[in-house]
Amino acid sequence: MDRRLRFAALPEAFREMDLKTFRTDIYQIPESRDKIKGACQVIKTYLDNFSQMQGRGIGLYMWSNAKGSGKTRMAASIANYLMREKGVQVKFSTSLNIIQEIKNTWDDKEKKSESRLLDALSTAEVLIIDDFGMEQLTAWINSKFFQVLNERYINNRVTILTSNIPFENLEYDDRITDRIGEKMLKIAFPEESIRKIISKNNNAQMLGMLAKQ
Ligand SMILES: Nc1ncnc2c1ncn2[C@@H]1O[C@H](COP(=O)(O)OP(=O)(O)OP(=O)(O)O)[C@@H](O)[C@H]1O
Ligand SMILES: [Mg+2]
Repeated sequence: MDRRLRFAALPEAFREMDLKTFRTDIYQIPESRDKIKGACQVIKTYLDNFSQMQGRGIGLYMWSNAKGSGKTRMAASIANYLMREKGVQVKFSTSLNIIQEIKNTWDDKEKKSESRLLDALSTAEVLIIDDFGMEQLTAWINSKFFQVLNERYINNRVTILTSNIPFENLEYDDRITDRIGEKMLKIAFPEESIRKIISKNNNAQMLGMLAKQ
Protein backbone atom coordinates (compact mmCIF):
# COMPACT_ATOMS: atom_id res chain seq x y z
CA MET A 1 0.00 0.00 0.00
CA ASP A 2 2.79 2.39 0.92
CA ARG A 3 4.30 2.02 -2.51
CA ARG A 4 0.95 2.81 -4.06
CA LEU A 5 0.71 6.01 -2.09
CA ARG A 6 2.74 8.86 -3.41
CA PHE A 7 2.66 10.35 0.05
CA ALA A 8 4.40 7.37 1.58
CA ALA A 9 7.23 9.63 2.66
CA LEU A 10 8.17 13.11 1.59
CA PRO A 11 8.34 14.39 -1.98
CA GLU A 12 11.95 14.34 -3.19
CA ALA A 13 12.21 18.13 -3.41
CA PHE A 14 11.38 18.48 0.28
CA ARG A 15 14.00 16.11 1.66
CA GLU A 16 16.61 18.84 2.01
CA MET A 17 14.39 21.22 3.92
CA ASP A 18 15.17 21.52 7.57
CA LEU A 19 14.41 23.78 10.46
CA LYS A 20 17.98 25.11 10.64
CA THR A 21 17.80 26.62 7.15
CA PHE A 22 14.38 28.17 7.67
CA ARG A 23 15.21 31.86 7.67
CA THR A 24 13.35 34.57 9.55
CA ASP A 25 15.49 37.37 8.11
CA ILE A 26 14.37 36.72 4.55
CA TYR A 27 11.03 38.44 5.15
CA GLN A 28 11.21 42.12 4.20
CA ILE A 29 8.30 43.61 6.11
CA PRO A 30 9.07 44.20 9.82
CA GLU A 31 5.63 42.93 10.84
CA SER A 32 6.30 39.70 8.91
CA ARG A 33 9.56 39.17 10.77
CA ASP A 34 7.83 39.55 14.12
CA LYS A 35 5.12 37.18 13.03
CA ILE A 36 7.48 34.50 11.73
CA LYS A 37 9.66 34.75 14.85
CA GLY A 38 6.56 34.22 16.98
CA ALA A 39 5.50 31.30 14.79
CA CYS A 40 8.97 29.69 15.01
CA GLN A 41 8.94 30.09 18.79
CA VAL A 42 5.61 28.28 19.10
CA ILE A 43 6.76 25.55 16.70
CA LYS A 44 10.02 25.10 18.62
CA THR A 45 8.20 24.75 21.93
CA TYR A 46 5.79 22.32 20.29
CA LEU A 47 8.62 20.16 18.92
CA ASP A 48 10.67 20.33 22.14
CA ASN A 49 7.63 18.92 23.93
CA PHE A 50 6.57 16.64 21.13
CA SER A 51 6.01 13.46 23.11
CA GLN A 52 3.67 15.29 25.47
CA MET A 53 1.88 16.93 22.51
CA GLN A 54 1.64 13.59 20.77
CA GLY A 55 0.16 12.01 23.86
CA ARG A 56 -2.62 14.57 23.73
CA GLY A 57 -2.99 14.38 19.94
CA ILE A 58 -2.19 18.06 19.50
CA GLY A 59 -1.39 19.11 15.92
CA LEU A 60 -0.75 22.35 14.05
CA TYR A 61 -2.78 24.49 11.67
CA MET A 62 -0.36 26.78 9.81
CA TRP A 63 -2.02 29.33 7.59
CA SER A 64 -1.74 32.64 5.76
CA ASN A 65 -3.85 34.24 3.07
CA ALA A 66 -0.67 35.02 1.16
CA LYS A 67 0.78 32.38 -1.11
CA GLY A 68 4.48 31.66 -0.88
CA SER A 69 4.87 32.62 2.77
CA GLY A 70 6.78 29.49 3.80
CA LYS A 71 4.03 27.16 5.06
CA THR A 72 4.93 24.16 2.91
CA ARG A 73 8.61 24.65 3.61
CA MET A 74 7.95 24.70 7.34
CA ALA A 75 5.67 21.66 7.14
CA ALA A 76 8.35 19.72 5.22
CA SER A 77 11.03 20.82 7.72
CA ILE A 78 8.88 19.64 10.61
CA ALA A 79 8.32 16.32 8.82
CA ASN A 80 12.08 15.84 8.37
CA TYR A 81 12.75 16.76 11.98
CA LEU A 82 10.15 14.34 13.34
CA MET A 83 11.36 11.50 11.12
CA ARG A 84 15.07 12.02 11.69
CA GLU A 85 15.29 13.28 15.25
CA LYS A 86 12.28 11.66 16.86
CA GLY A 87 11.95 8.50 14.77
CA VAL A 88 8.30 9.27 14.10
CA GLN A 89 6.45 7.83 11.09
CA VAL A 90 5.19 10.74 8.98
CA LYS A 91 2.96 10.82 5.91
CA PHE A 92 2.94 14.00 3.86
CA SER A 93 0.52 14.85 1.08
CA THR A 94 -1.53 17.64 -0.40
CA SER A 95 -5.27 17.44 0.01
CA LEU A 96 -5.69 17.37 -3.78
CA ASN A 97 -3.34 14.42 -3.99
CA ILE A 98 -5.27 12.56 -1.32
CA ILE A 99 -8.50 13.09 -3.23
CA GLN A 100 -6.86 11.91 -6.44
CA GLU A 101 -5.53 8.81 -4.68
CA ILE A 102 -9.00 8.03 -3.36
CA LYS A 103 -10.45 8.40 -6.86
CA ASN A 104 -7.71 6.13 -8.23
CA THR A 105 -8.80 3.37 -5.91
CA TRP A 106 -12.22 3.38 -7.56
CA ASP A 107 -10.73 1.87 -10.71
CA ASP A 108 -9.30 -0.99 -8.74
CA LYS A 109 -11.03 -4.33 -9.11
CA GLU A 110 -10.38 -4.92 -5.48
CA LYS A 111 -13.16 -3.19 -3.59
CA LYS A 112 -11.17 -2.97 -0.40
CA SER A 113 -8.53 -0.56 -1.67
CA GLU A 114 -10.41 2.63 -0.78
CA SER A 115 -10.89 1.56 2.78
CA ARG A 116 -7.24 0.49 2.98
CA LEU A 117 -6.17 3.91 1.76
CA LEU A 118 -8.40 5.69 4.28
CA ASP A 119 -7.08 3.33 6.91
CA ALA A 120 -3.47 4.21 6.03
CA LEU A 121 -4.32 7.90 6.35
CA SER A 122 -6.15 7.37 9.61
CA THR A 123 -3.41 5.36 11.27
CA ALA A 124 -0.24 7.20 10.19
CA GLU A 125 1.55 8.30 13.34
CA VAL A 126 1.73 11.87 12.03
CA LEU A 127 -0.26 12.99 8.99
CA ILE A 128 0.62 16.25 7.26
CA ILE A 129 -1.89 17.60 4.75
CA ASP A 130 -0.55 20.49 2.70
CA ASP A 131 -3.00 22.99 1.16
CA PHE A 132 -5.97 21.93 3.19
CA GLY A 133 -9.15 23.67 2.02
CA MET A 134 -7.96 24.03 -1.59
CA GLU A 135 -10.20 21.23 -2.77
CA GLN A 136 -13.66 21.87 -4.12
CA LEU A 137 -16.06 20.70 -1.52
CA THR A 138 -18.49 18.02 -2.42
CA ALA A 139 -20.43 15.88 0.01
CA TRP A 140 -18.20 12.89 -0.63
CA ILE A 141 -14.96 14.81 -0.08
CA ASN A 142 -16.37 16.16 3.12
CA SER A 143 -17.31 12.71 4.29
CA LYS A 144 -13.92 11.14 3.42
CA PHE A 145 -11.98 13.85 5.22
CA PHE A 146 -14.38 13.59 8.12
CA GLN A 147 -13.78 9.87 8.33
CA VAL A 148 -9.99 10.31 8.36
CA LEU A 149 -9.83 13.31 10.70
CA ASN A 150 -12.42 11.84 13.03
CA GLU A 151 -10.56 8.57 13.31
CA ARG A 152 -7.35 10.47 14.04
CA TYR A 153 -9.13 12.66 16.58
CA ILE A 154 -10.62 9.74 18.47
CA ASN A 155 -7.23 8.03 18.65
CA ASN A 156 -5.28 11.17 19.61
CA ARG A 157 -3.12 11.07 16.48
CA VAL A 158 -1.21 14.17 15.45
CA THR A 159 -2.38 15.91 12.27
CA ILE A 160 -0.63 18.95 10.83
CA LEU A 161 -2.36 21.10 8.21
CA THR A 162 -1.26 24.04 6.09
CA SER A 163 -3.84 26.27 4.46
CA ASN A 164 -4.44 29.55 2.66
CA ILE A 165 -7.62 29.96 4.62
CA PRO A 166 -7.97 31.27 8.15
CA PHE A 167 -9.38 28.57 10.36
CA GLU A 168 -12.70 30.34 10.96
CA ASN A 169 -13.34 30.56 7.21
CA LEU A 170 -12.88 26.87 6.43
CA GLU A 171 -15.97 25.73 4.62
CA TYR A 172 -15.95 22.26 6.02
CA ASP A 173 -18.75 20.67 7.90
CA ASP A 174 -18.83 21.87 11.55
CA ARG A 175 -18.12 18.34 12.65
CA ILE A 176 -14.70 18.57 10.97
CA THR A 177 -13.81 22.09 12.03
CA ASP A 178 -14.82 21.45 15.64
CA ARG A 179 -12.38 18.58 15.80
CA ILE A 180 -9.61 20.50 14.09
CA GLY A 181 -10.27 23.45 16.33
CA GLU A 182 -10.01 21.48 19.51
CA LYS A 183 -6.77 19.66 18.72
CA MET A 184 -4.72 22.10 16.68
CA LEU A 185 -2.55 25.03 17.55
CA LYS A 186 -3.34 27.70 15.00
CA ILE A 187 -0.25 29.46 13.73
CA ALA A 188 -0.51 32.50 11.47
CA PHE A 189 2.27 32.89 8.89
CA PRO A 190 3.30 36.30 7.50
CA GLU A 191 1.21 37.83 4.76
CA GLU A 192 4.27 38.08 2.56
CA SER A 193 5.50 35.98 -0.35
CA ILE A 194 9.04 34.65 -0.06
CA ARG A 195 8.50 33.07 -3.47
CA LYS A 196 8.33 36.59 -4.96
CA ILE A 197 11.42 37.72 -3.06
CA ILE A 198 13.37 34.69 -4.28
CA SER A 199 12.32 35.21 -7.88
CA LYS A 200 13.23 38.92 -7.65
CA ASN A 201 16.65 37.97 -6.26
CA ASN A 202 17.16 35.40 -9.01
CA ASN A 203 16.27 37.99 -11.62
CA ALA A 204 18.65 40.51 -10.15
CA GLN A 205 21.40 37.90 -10.04
CA MET A 206 20.81 37.00 -13.70
CA LEU A 207 20.87 40.64 -14.73
CA GLY A 208 24.08 41.10 -12.76
CA MET A 209 25.68 38.17 -14.56
CA LEU A 210 24.55 39.49 -17.94
CA ALA A 211 25.87 42.97 -17.15
CA LYS A 212 29.33 41.49 -16.45
CA GLN A 213 29.54 39.77 -19.83
N1 LIG B 1 11.77 31.13 5.80
C1 LIG B 1 12.25 30.73 4.63
N2 LIG B 1 13.57 30.58 4.43
C2 LIG B 1 14.04 30.20 3.24
N3 LIG B 1 13.27 29.95 2.16
C3 LIG B 1 11.94 30.06 2.28
C4 LIG B 1 11.37 30.46 3.53
N4 LIG B 1 10.03 30.50 3.37
C5 LIG B 1 9.78 30.14 2.12
N5 LIG B 1 10.92 29.86 1.44
C6 LIG B 1 10.97 29.46 0.04
O1 LIG B 1 10.00 30.23 -0.65
C7 LIG B 1 9.25 29.43 -1.56
C8 LIG B 1 7.78 29.45 -1.20
O2 LIG B 1 7.58 28.87 0.07
P1 LIG B 1 6.42 27.79 0.35
O3 LIG B 1 6.20 26.94 -0.84
O4 LIG B 1 6.75 27.12 1.62
O5 LIG B 1 5.16 28.77 0.53
P2 LIG B 1 3.66 28.42 0.90
O6 LIG B 1 3.29 29.30 2.02
O7 LIG B 1 3.51 26.95 1.09
O8 LIG B 1 2.90 28.88 -0.43
P3 LIG B 1 1.44 28.45 -0.98
O9 LIG B 1 0.46 29.23 -0.17
O10 LIG B 1 1.46 28.87 -2.41
O11 LIG B 1 1.31 26.97 -0.79
C9 LIG B 1 9.89 28.06 -1.52
O12 LIG B 1 10.86 27.99 -2.54
C10 LIG B 1 10.54 28.02 -0.13
O13 LIG B 1 11.64 27.13 -0.12
MG1 LIG C 1 2.39 25.55 0.01
